[in-house]
Amino acid sequence: MGLIGPGFVAAHHIDAVRRLGDVDVVAIAGSSQESAENKAREHKVERAYGNYRALIGDPDVHVIHNTTPNYLHLPITLAALAAGKHVISDKPLAMNPEEGRKLRDAAVAAKVAHVVTFNYRGNPLVQQARGMVARGEAGPVGFVHGHYLQDWMTDPNVYSWRSDPAKGGASSALGDIGSHWCDLAEHMSGLRIASVLADLTTVIPIRYSSGASAEAFSKQGSGERVEMHTQSEDLASVLLRFENGVKGCFSVGQVLPGHKNDLQLELNGRTCSLKWKQEEQNQLWIGRHDQPNAVMAKDPSLMSRDVRRYTHLPGGHQEAWSDAFFNVVRDAYDWIRAGALPNAKPEMLPTFEDGYRSTCVVDAMLRSHAAGGVWQKVNCLPCGE
Ligand SMILES: NC(=O)c1ccc[n+]([C@@H]2O[C@H](COP(=O)([O-])OP(=O)(O)OC[C@H]3O[C@@H](n4cnc5c(N)ncnc54)[C@H](O)[C@@H]3O)[C@@H](O)[C@H]2O)c1
Repeated sequence: MGLIGPGFVAAHHIDAVRRLGDVDVVAIAGSSQESAENKAREHKVERAYGNYRALIGDPDVHVIHNTTPNYLHLPITLAALAAGKHVISDKPLAMNPEEGRKLRDAAVAAKVAHVVTFNYRGNPLVQQARGMVARGEAGPVGFVHGHYLQDWMTDPNVYSWRSDPAKGGASSALGDIGSHWCDLAEHMSGLRIASVLADLTTVIPIRYSSGASAEAFSKQGSGERVEMHTQSEDLASVLLRFENGVKGCFSVGQVLPGHKNDLQLELNGRTCSLKWKQEEQNQLWIGRHDQPNAVMAKDPSLMSRDVRRYTHLPGGHQEAWSDAFFNVVRDAYDWIRAGALPNAKPEMLPTFEDGYRSTCVVDAMLRSHAAGGVWQKVNCLPCGE
């Protein structure tokens, strides 16, 4: 494995790959030779490249993890695919649907494994809930709702590439974390978002930059700062229409004090409701109108046989964010070992198809807001069109 973009999330990609036990982390490529060498030392990786093309050309690297800022996803992933390497890209797959489609089409044509780390899918109780819905145990789903709220951008001294449309994309909060929520909503419900009505806000339009990009969830130090005007949204509310007329809504924000990584998703079926909260990820709430409500623990002995492989410990032993992340990475490498054949892909594993779809969903939200709050269809083109 070789990793390009050794920042905040990269450390978790490296941890997950090392946990597999039979994959070597061969090289890291950073924005300069010096930063690559520092990061290689920090992560105890042997080779450091100051240029991503050199890492892609390394014959010992078969799988590339792309954890660069969003604007670099297209050129780096395209170059990796052209070299015939498997690619695990962090989300969002690309800055917009046009780029996302190019990457999806190139990955399918290259016949390599193509994965986007929508890592919340890797939670065992997310898989449990998904299975319950798919088997009809929740009854027909009528409403899908929730939120994804964070607070790390509440301080105007936090300025990162995410607030710069040239580097993060036209959307900030929706592309950054709304993409996770929408992917999870579609994955758990088994339904596609067909159209959206979005209301976007920039709560903090002026931020102060130190010149360096702020790391996610970090506090800012003191020092001289430059005023930066930002127009991308840090708060959004969205109404959803799923296929088959199912309704939904969610809110996203990164400037909401007290909310650290507060992703919540509830599905209301006719038989029961299912609610999963990322910050209490070892529990699944099951709501009923004709029986007492219940809370299912992440306990392999209680869970469906087919999703037990996503648990690593018995009930009462708490599992966490990095375990779910590992589950996605493990499925990705299982797919690679199986030759990346389309029919060998583990069902849970999110691909560039899902990544492209996500750029289309966010794009529809941007169009809806720009039109003054008008319903917009999600336009997603099948492969080859
Ligand atoms: N799945 C998740 O939960 C999750 C969490 C955080 C971030 N992300 C995604 O991961 C990506 C990276 O986010 P981050 O928060 O780690 O950002 P970051 O700014 O902390 O890290 C990005 C790294 O890329 C490096 N870089 C910049 N230009 C480069 C170049 N030309 N070649 C090689 N490296 C270069 C930077 O120096 C930095 O080390 C983003 O797309 C983000 O959306 C996903």
